[in-house]
Amino acid sequence: MIREVLRMGDPRLLVRSQEINEFGALELQALLQDMRDTMAHLNGAGLAAPQIGVNLRVVIFGVHANPRYPQAEEVPDTVLINPVLEPLGTELEEGWEGCLSVPGMRGVVPRYKRLRYRGVDENGKPFEREVSDFHARVVQHEVDHLDGILYPMRIRDFSRFGFNEALFPGQELPQED
Ligand code: NI
Repeated sequence: MIREVLRMGDPRLLVRSQEINEFGALELQALLQDMRDTMAHLNGAGLAAPQIGVNLRVVIFGVHANPRYPQAEEVPDTVLINPVLEPLGTELEEGWEGCLSVPGMRGVVPRYKRLRYRGVDENGKPFEREVSDFHARVVQHEVDHLDGILYPMRIRDFSRFGFNEALFPGQELPQED
């Protein structure tokens, strides 16, 4: 079921979400289905459960080749629950981000360039990955949602934050997450 995505200003986006301890429950499957439906409907790159008003530590993301955005790096479809991030090195990289909870805007956000993340999948099976660049950025953006952090709260240079049409007139932009 497509759910309403909460927008910045809603206090439910600002709280720390809770760990999941029970897997295989119908409620979790229903939550994931709603998240997939909502992300697909909005053509998003990622979605965190608190964005649809569910304060659990669940995120989904995935980016596929699209001729409209030839520069976009692909990210595999992933369900990540109870994530733990471990930066690899201290190098930060700046990049443009958008968010389904901050529609129509983009901002430049510094993120760790490389990191390892661990968590469990929808069956409770642990996994971990080492990633960099765009994949690392998407994970950091989504996991921030679980701690009540929206990307504008990470912006350092507000001269690179604004409305899509004003920043990039006439351009097709990559997906928001
Ligand atoms: Ni977001």
